[in-house]
Amino acid sequence: MRINYDTIVKDTDPSLRNKSVTVPIPMMKKDIALGKSLLRYVRDSRDEEKAEKFNLKPAVGIAAPQIGVHRALICVSVDEEVGDEVETIEMVLANPKIISHSVQKAALKFGEGCLSVEGEHQGYVYRSARIKVRAFDVMNQEEVEFRANGYLAIVLQHEIDHLGGVLFYDHINAENPWEIKENAIIID
Ligand code: CO
Repeated sequence: MRINYDTIVKDTDPSLRNKSVTVPIPMMKKDIALGKSLLRYVRDSRDEEKAEKFNLKPAVGIAAPQIGVHRALICVSVDEEVGDEVETIEMVLANPKIISHSVQKAALKFGEGCLSVEGEHQGYVYRSARIKVRAFDVMNQEEVEFRANGYLAIVLQHEIDHLGGVLFYDHINAENPWEIKENAIIID
């Protein structure tokens, strides 16, 4: 399936609020193919030429419900600075679960965005600063458990939220969208 921006389900569609079902392991071919389509979208969307050619809005992550499939599959592609180098971390995960998280919160300095959200929703989206995730790694076909912090942790929580029908602006404090929380990390 070739996903483009027009095929992405927007938040005007209530199906985005549905919960996704667990993907059976060992994975079926159709689920593996779906995971690969998600990866291709995110990867290509970050390539200027392809993004233009195929009508892809740049993204650092996507979840299956955003293409109308309510199965627990997500993909993230995030650049992390490792010393002087920039490393792209790509993951395609089935059934991702946050098994533990820090008490400390973190939020992105300019708030969050989403492929499915066209309206303006400004404000801090506070999430856990550090998480531990258990999932099934689709590319390597193995169970994985790992820790994440910083931007990657935020993106993972955003995508995992989609599997529960939750959107980023559900977390914004309506009375005080840019509320400063004590001890929270604001990520640039
Ligand atoms: Co999103």
